[in-house]
Amino acid sequence: MILRERLSEYIRACFTGLWIESHEHADALTEIARLCRDEQWHWATWDIESGLTLPGQAETPDAGGTDPLAAIRSVNALVTPEGTAILVLQNFHRFLQSAEIVQALSRQIIAGKQNRTILVILAPVVQIPTELEKMFVVIEHELPGREQLEQIARGIAVEEGELPDQPDLERLLDAASGLTRLEAENAYSLSLVRHSRLMPETVWDLKTQTLRNSGLLSLYRGSEDFSSLGGLEALKSFCRRSMLHTGRDNPLRRPRGVLLLGVPGTGKSAFAKALGRETGRPTLVLDVGSLLGSLVGQTEQNVRQALWIADAMAPCILFIDELEKALSGISGQGDSGVSSRLFGTILTWMNDHTSDVYLIATCNDISRLPPEISRAERFDAVVFLDLPGRQEKQLIWSQYLDIFQLDRDQRLPLDEEWTGAEIKACCRLAALLDVPLIQAAQNVVPVAVTAAESVERLRNWASGRCLSASQPGIYRQTGGTAKSRRRVSRDPSNN
Ligand SMILES: Nc1ncnc2c1ncn2[C@@H]1O[C@H](COP(=O)(O)OP(=O)(O)OP(=O)(O)O)[C@@H](O)[C@H]1O
Ligand SMILES: [Mg+2]
Repeated sequence: MILRERLSEYIRACFTGLWIESHEHADALTEIARLCRDEQWHWATWDIESGLTLPGQAETPDAGGTDPLAAIRSVNALVTPEGTAILVLQNFHRFLQSAEIVQALSRQIIAGKQNRTILVILAPVVQIPTELEKMFVVIEHELPGREQLEQIARGIAVEEGELPDQPDLERLLDAASGLTRLEAENAYSLSLVRHSRLMPETVWDLKTQTLRNSGLLSLYRGSEDFSSLGGLEALKSFCRRSMLHTGRDNPLRRPRGVLLLGVPGTGKSAFAKALGRETGRPTLVLDVGSLLGSLVGQTEQNVRQALWIADAMAPCILFIDELEKALSGISGQGDSGVSSRLFGTILTWMNDHTSDVYLIATCNDISRLPPEISRAERFDAVVFLDLPGRQEKQLIWSQYLDIFQLDRDQRLPLDEEWTGAEIKACCRLAALLDVPLIQAAQNVVPVAVTAAESVERLRNWASGRCLSASQPGIYRQTGGTAKSRRRVSRDPSNN
């Protein structure tokens, strides 16, 4: 529902305290103005610089100028016997530290029920003091939808040939989704200056930059697809099938995402990065760890905003790497509950979002993840990536032998306990030092050896609980020590 429709509902139902969370005040005000004109409601705006302004009137009434207390009371002057009066207070969150102002707001919101006066706070954040929490309803001003982005494009590209035809127009709108109206306008204008027409590439560039500057999300655009990963066939086919099936228009049938659990170096992050290219969706990376570190206090707000952008960019992939790091403080102290609230925000979103956003999260240490994260419904599957099997290793070797241009006929080192990352590292070293693989292997210490206990614990946990990334069905630990596994999986064709 667009902002205007929701506002209209609340005002008709006489909710007298409304909080609009918006980064685009000009646009929100235009929507409010349109609504008030259609409904013949009286309205005014107030901000600290201009004081009270009545729309359509150059002269402002003297209602206390820039005094925020007087601003609250001035809404009563707008009242007419039969009508509704609305006062929009811009960036008023700045004044809510004052006890007097909180009191005045509270009184006015209650009184508003009698004389139908509505206070609307328009602010980029939601910071409602406890005393007022129950008095405000929050309305999010969504980012513009495709229709609106197209309108903006049509408004800017007015000369012949500037606006692309279908299907390029759709690609342009894909690129612009997730931008604010102003950002979209800027991106389109830049494209016109650079190429004399609207090009999706310019818009993508600018969006990548905008997201990076926001510090919330980054856009990953790599060239790898599933072919860059050896093995992991069950996982590949699960994601491909669930994401590319038809019927995505029905929110109930939309795929939600997967949680990848596994031994370090088995390709969890690499898989998540390849998924976008493979399925033709943009990949947004949410770095919750650094969000937590840098912005304590605003973290929840930022995460909410990031999820909001992801919703607007749908269909897309949202990638959260090393989820457990973000949640490390969840059971502990020291961050005054920030990470548990942040976690709550993510969980709620995972449950409630109806947008076509596919969440892919990775995790090395399930013991640090609270159990509710992997509950059925949150993800379509929790998948375990074990050390690659013999055939998978063969594929990975042959891929990296090619990439690093190494002699394909040389002997391969003993690699039973190796991950994909270790095979890659060995090939890289061999190329770097110009030595045979066997020699390079002496510098590779597999994580399954250095961290044997934690790898074993992980396997134990995953056994019977997770899907296997390599074979269809549930992962079962094959059991036994490294030696016995080696005997079982020995492939005579190797050597
Ligand atoms: N099956 C594989 N095929 C090809 N390359 C692989 C495979 N598994 C891992 N790699 C390579 O190993 C490197 C490390 O992988 P990646 O970072 O995805 O591991 P990870 O599981 O995310 O590890 P961590 O848990 O430490 O984050 C990457 O460069 C990746 O391309
Ligand atoms: Mg990783």
